[in-house]
Amino acid sequence: MSSSEIESQLSAVQHRAADDINAAAGLEELDKVRVKYLGKKGDLSKVLGGMGKLSAQERPKIGKLANEAKTALQSQIEQRKEDLQSAQIRAQLESETLDVTMPGVYQPQGRIHPINSIIDQITDIFVGLGYTVAQSQEIESDYYNFEALNFLPDHPARDMQDTLYLPGGQLMRTHTSNTQIRYMENNQPPMRVLASGRCYRRDTVDATHSAVFHQIEFFAVDKDITFTDLRGTVQLFLEALFGEIEVRFRPSYFPFTEPSAEVDVRWQGQWLEVMGCGMIDPNVLKAVGCDPEEYSGFAAGLGVERLAMVQSKIDDIRRLYKSDLRFLRQF
Ligand code: DAH
Repeated sequence: MSSSEIESQLSAVQHRAADDINAAAGLEELDKVRVKYLGKKGDLSKVLGGMGKLSAQERPKIGKLANEAKTALQSQIEQRKEDLQSAQIRAQLESETLDVTMPGVYQPQGRIHPINSIIDQITDIFVGLGYTVAQSQEIESDYYNFEALNFLPDHPARDMQDTLYLPGGQLMRTHTSNTQIRYMENNQPPMRVLASGRCYRRDTVDATHSAVFHQIEFFAVDKDITFTDLRGTVQLFLEALFGEIEVRFRPSYFPFTEPSAEVDVRWQGQWLEVMGCGMIDPNVLKAVGCDPEEYSGFAAGLGVERLAMVQSKIDDIRRLYKSDLRFLRQF
């Protein structure tokens, strides 16, 4: 191949390359064009392959032309690359422009159910007092729901709670007090524990009763725990939940506490019972292998629905379980 042939081929390659560079619609395509012309086996190399046969005088001239062609292609590619990139950014900016005059899209927002909300609030208060949060099962044996809590087999106190029994002798727990036994069996005092969860009773459903409801249980066991500690804790807790409020203790009876009390708060001019409590009965401590001569403790249980109804001014417990959005949206 003569030097003039190589020259004209070089210029042909340059023209074709320029067309291809301009036609490349994207960065990937542009890179293919680069490889096609400037790559090791690209068109430019192919043309220069013929240089070997040139005379010593012609070679430098063609070499220089080839270098110029290469640099020119490189800068054309670079320029095209910049153009493509800025076009891409412009397109993106255009497509992402906000039309603030367009009507909005309705995004329904979920809310915390009044029951979960009050459980959260109470949990926060007790965690602030250093309590541990525990859980236990809803399907329970007679032992954990009654026997270990000092309900003797024929104890009339079992009639206080209408129990749902399952085939095989298991039952649905009637209160969260089973957590006391399950937790104390596996942990050593000192302990301060809070547990919340569902409970079940064979109650006829009406405005204030539900067969499934929630309780919160809290208890503390240590050396020298007294009824004063219980009173102080209950007072502090109720004030944290309701603000300044009048609190009253009434003597009561529970098999698992001695002495026992029920607690009322003065709410809208009336005394309203909010929880049962007492000093953990020595028999309960013995059942979990804890020496009542060395340790003492208090325990309390409260009905969550009752508190939620008071706090959110709800007149019928059944509203809490019917997922009626018109009702739930108010909270
Ligand atoms: N378990 C009782 C109930 O369901 C509530 C209760 C009363 C729990 C006194 C306690 C307690 O821990 O000390 O009616």
